[in-house]
Amino acid sequence: MSRILSAVAWPYANGPRHIGHVAGFGVPSDVFSRYMRMAGHEVLMVSGTDEHGTPILVAADEAGITARQLADKNNRLIVEDLVALGLSYDLFTRTTTGNHYQTVQKMFEVVRDNGYMLVQTTRGAISPSNGRTLPDRYIEGTCPICGTDGARGDQCDSCGNQLDPTDLINPVSRINGETPKFVETDHYFLDLPALAKALEAWLDDREQSGTWRPNVIKFSKNFLEDVRPRAMTRDIDWGIPVPGWEDQPGKRLYVWFDAVIGYLSASIEWARRTGDPEAWRKWWNDPEALSYYFMGKDNIVFHSQIWPAELIGYNGKGDKGGQPGDLGELNLPTEVVSSEFLTMEGKKFASSRGIVIYVRDMLERYQADALRYFISAAGPENSDADFTWAEFVRRTNSELVAGWGNLVNRTAAMIAKNFGEIPTPGPLEQIDEDLLKAVRDGFAEVGDLIAHHRQKAAIAQVMRLVGEANKYVTVTEPFKMKDESQRERLATVLHTLATAVVNLNLMLSPFLPFAANAVDQVFGGEGKVAPLPQIEEVTDLDITREDGSPLDYPIITGDYTQVPTWAPIEVTVGTPIAKPKPVFQKLDEAIIEEELERYGNK
Ligand code: MF3
Ligand code: ZN
Repeated sequence: MSRILSAVAWPYANGPRHIGHVAGFGVPSDVFSRYMRMAGHEVLMVSGTDEHGTPILVAADEAGITARQLADKNNRLIVEDLVALGLSYDLFTRTTTGNHYQTVQKMFEVVRDNGYMLVQTTRGAISPSNGRTLPDRYIEGTCPICGTDGARGDQCDSCGNQLDPTDLINPVSRINGETPKFVETDHYFLDLPALAKALEAWLDDREQSGTWRPNVIKFSKNFLEDVRPRAMTRDIDWGIPVPGWEDQPGKRLYVWFDAVIGYLSASIEWARRTGDPEAWRKWWNDPEALSYYFMGKDNIVFHSQIWPAELIGYNGKGDKGGQPGDLGELNLPTEVVSSEFLTMEGKKFASSRGIVIYVRDMLERYQADALRYFISAAGPENSDADFTWAEFVRRTNSELVAGWGNLVNRTAAMIAKNFGEIPTPGPLEQIDEDLLKAVRDGFAEVGDLIAHHRQKAAIAQVMRLVGEANKYVTVTEPFKMKDESQRERLATVLHTLATAVVNLNLMLSPFLPFAANAVDQVFGGEGKVAPLPQIEEVTDLDITREDGSPLDYPIITGDYTQVPTWAPIEVTVGTPIAKPKPVFQKLDEAIIEEELERYGNK
């Protein structure tokens, strides 16, 4: 048994999330966490909405509301969407809680006191026409490293390098096209050069483990070739106040400095809410605990460089030494699990241009498990992947409905019709033994693939076994066994099939939690094989709003302790089985045209 931290990237609260986002951080982290719990590990799965930074301010300005109002609204929307998708967070919170502010400020102070924060005077951009600070990501120009046009002042999406706006060649404001003016301003910089040796040692060690996806480790090592101090404060008035600079409300901590600390602060909040406030330490201070970070590839640098650097600085393990603060020595990531991008009908998602399928819209029209299935079977695990409506319909109809749904359905229907309960089997023939063995062996094979973040191969393997079971029906032809003399053989075949279905359902439950519960009920269970998350309304543990009213917000949480074990099980003879209703909805081919039209792809 290990303790496993499932650290899931924090979605920005600047708008609702689209299916590309949940394909990156959402479904993969949930499949992994659900499997790990079934495999007997103690999983803590945390995340929340990422609510600081310029995009939130800009979206709030556009909507004519405050940043906090915008964050409140989107936090709730995102919480509802992620619950509807069945993502089993132990705690999904937000970065505007008192607990998060305190944790971030504590970390900042220790990193600074250990000597890893340097104050430097830099040149910040302002708009010459109105004198307002121009945030980094609202400046664009040519990347000085790879030469691509349209690189942003904070990061180049093309080569993945972090940038400073002053690095850009021919910088212009994305807001009004002006050439920004650069003026002198002081900021705290994370002293990455003093942390680089420790970072490199950590990455080398991680590479040795051989478990990271090759693209992620390569990408991460590349960043070490150009380590410079990085600004961790910004000229902005929305964000966490900088300890010691409270008299300068126009300067706040950089959104990425605070967001990555969310993994830790959410673990602390979770512990406080369970009534055992120190419980988080089992995942953070015990060097045996494992931590897996799930995200899309644009987040890699923040998880394989900035976050570990903050942790090393806090632990006092860089060139300048130092001592950890009262949070104790904190674990560095075991693994950064990053996926690639999902495109839609061959185009990059772009909310601003309407090339987007919001999670909410999708779930209003389709089953959550159909989306989860598509993402698991055809998602951007190791290379970019394309979502097309034609492929969504094909996979849903021919794999979920005609493959798995049909197996469940006909097995239950034949049992209901002929026996009304799971029958007592007679002697097993070779063909029965073969199917049962293949299914039993599936647990080790599929489990190993999920543990190594090969979810596409894992679900393909389960679906291959589903295919074997369907073939078994074709070969044994139980539907033709009408004679009394064949009754014992019929009972054996149906008992074998019921055993296969119930076991395959367990293997599919991390991927298809809603269907797993429905199938479980068809076979006489309570429908609780895959525990589902729920929304709980809570009050902030530490702060109140400016006007003194309590800060209330929705969290996602759940009790996931009662999960079945990841191992073969037997069915119970005599369990009543009724005529089933289909578990999956077959999709009408016409929706392909409808959806293409709706999204302007025609
Ligand atoms: N908000 C970022 C995004 O949506 C992800 C932040 S991950 C965090 O890309 F851990 F840093 F919060
Ligand atoms: Zn570049």
